Amino acid sequence: MNDSWYVEHVTVEHETEADAHFPLSRWLPANTEMQFKKFDSQLPQVVKKEHPEVYQQRQNELDQKKKDFAYAPIANKEGMPRTVTSLPPEETFHRNYIFDLLETKFTGVISQYLKKMRYEDEFASFDDMYKVYYGPLSPFTVPAGHSGWRTDEKFARLRLTGPNCTVIRGVKKDGGLPTNFPVDKDNLAKHFMEGQSFQQAQDADRLFYIDFKDLDGYIAKSSGKPMVAPLALFYARMDGTLIPLAIQLFQQNADNNPIFYPPPIDDEKVWCQAKFWFGVADSNYHEPVTHLLQTHLVAGDFITCFHHMISPSHPVYKLMLPHFIYLLNINTDGMPVLTAEDGAFNKILTFGLDNCYDLMYKKYQTFKLSDAYLATDLSNRGVDNLPNYHYMEDAKPMFKAIEDYITASLKTIYGGKDQVLKDDFEMQNFAKLLCDKTEGMRGVWGDGAFTKLDDLSKTLSTMVFILSNVHAAANFNQYDEYGYPPNLPFRLDGAPPTDKSPVTEDYLVKLFDVNVTLATMDLGRTLSMQGTNKIGNYETRYEYKPDVLKHYLSFIEALKKVGAENDSKNAKRSNPYPWLSPKVVPNSISI
Ligand SMILES: [Fe+2]
Repeated sequence: MNDSWYVEHVTVEHETEADAHFPLSRWLPANTEMQFKKFDSQLPQVVKKEHPEVYQQRQNELDQKKKDFAYAPIANKEGMPRTVTSLPPEETFHRNYIFDLLETKFTGVISQYLKKMRYEDEFASFDDMYKVYYGPLSPFTVPAGHSGWRTDEKFARLRLTGPNCTVIRGVKKDGGLPTNFPVDKDNLAKHFMEGQSFQQAQDADRLFYIDFKDLDGYIAKSSGKPMVAPLALFYARMDGTLIPLAIQLFQQNADNNPIFYPPPIDDEKVWCQAKFWFGVADSNYHEPVTHLLQTHLVAGDFITCFHHMISPSHPVYKLMLPHFIYLLNINTDGMPVLTAEDGAFNKILTFGLDNCYDLMYKKYQTFKLSDAYLATDLSNRGVDNLPNYHYMEDAKPMFKAIEDYITASLKTIYGGKDQVLKDDFEMQNFAKLLCDKTEGMRGVWGDGAFTKLDDLSKTLSTMVFILSNVHAAANFNQYDEYGYPPNLPFRLDGAPPTDKSPVTEDYLVKLFDVNVTLATMDLGRTLSMQGTNKIGNYETRYEYKPDVLKHYLSFIEALKKVGAENDSKNAKRSNPYPWLSPKVVPNSISI
């Protein structure tokens, strides 16, 4: 007993009654007597009133947790989300999994070997790149997403189902295109709009766009040249197919920054070049913002604050912990794959590490958790009528299953009374810390005080949705889409075009550097790995109280139904979207 023990669970067996469960999931310090109630799941105000001696123990544990989960802003940059300064003892319990995952998987060595075996210093053609997938030594499979990569339909589909599928917006919703994007409306209507005028297409909610204005003004690290900050316009055909209609590579429309159009308006290769450069913006925005900041780091801030204030004996702790598993581990031990000096942000992305941090900082200043609530996100972007938006179609039932589960559980935990929540001083302390005016998160319901159960439910549901679905959509199709870089490049050699001069096929091929291409495949493969349980199938079960447990069982049933519905939707889709199926989405972020 002279050592501390990590105790996951204690079961006391009775001969005549049901077994008593104590899901402890914590380190028990050496030579210390501790008391736990059956189920270890009580609100703090109840413990304080009814069991003062256990309450003191609970306070002592929380005092220790504040030390164990000491935090600082990411990269010590004020204004960034907070994270633990070192991995807390609770979390080291899962450390081996992360090490196993990272140790052998990110294999620059294999890429280098393949390069020597199969290529000279440059690719001879786009087909030449396929050699990398074949042969007994290849660690790469043919990525599913690349097929049809050169078509406009696939280019548009990437914006609906690719890793960065949450930036597209409705033109109608925004009252027209941004004024710095003066597309040739008559010409577009004549060639592409199936008998409608541009205005009619807009009124019918058939026009959508993406604006990477956040990238404006940066210098790309890999080239020393201005970073592309493009806009693109899309049209939803009457048959439901989305197609791209126009791309402008920088924000300021000018003679040396023309708007590119698909054939027959512009030449196919000139248009292909514009699509490549748009892809560079998409991928360089996706990794730091959509993926790292808006899932990993936002969740890291939330979870760190939660551990400071919520006791492991709190019923909401039991509810949330299955969705927090591995996150602080991967953010502490795994993030260097992206953010080390020789990590992907510097070595693969064109943008570079410093720019990534600067952009993440700016985006976090305007980030609001309430904007990540699915219905709000879809309505803010005006995408309700976007056809074949499989992300939206599949996210809706998943969000509902999560929100129903959290709402019902909270109702039971707090007896359906807002006042009981107001009296829960641990939860109120958490709200205060989370929304701290100088370093906290913005847009959390209640803004620093949970006075309504509905506010707490929206907050927790949104966080579980981010940890499971938003991350899954941004993460697991990375190999499929990035694994064949012409489909979605991280970096191109040369400079973005300033006019519509003809280019050759060979010129387009030579935009792809062999080393960067192989390293991109490697990164995509690593980040797309799946090694943890799927949503609802918890790695550790924390809740044993029958009245709360019944909501968990309903959640499992709801997920089964969502999974079956997804299967039948995908059977009918010409391009199935598996990424938000409960059979694919994990409980939490682990990669
Ligand atoms: Fe990730």
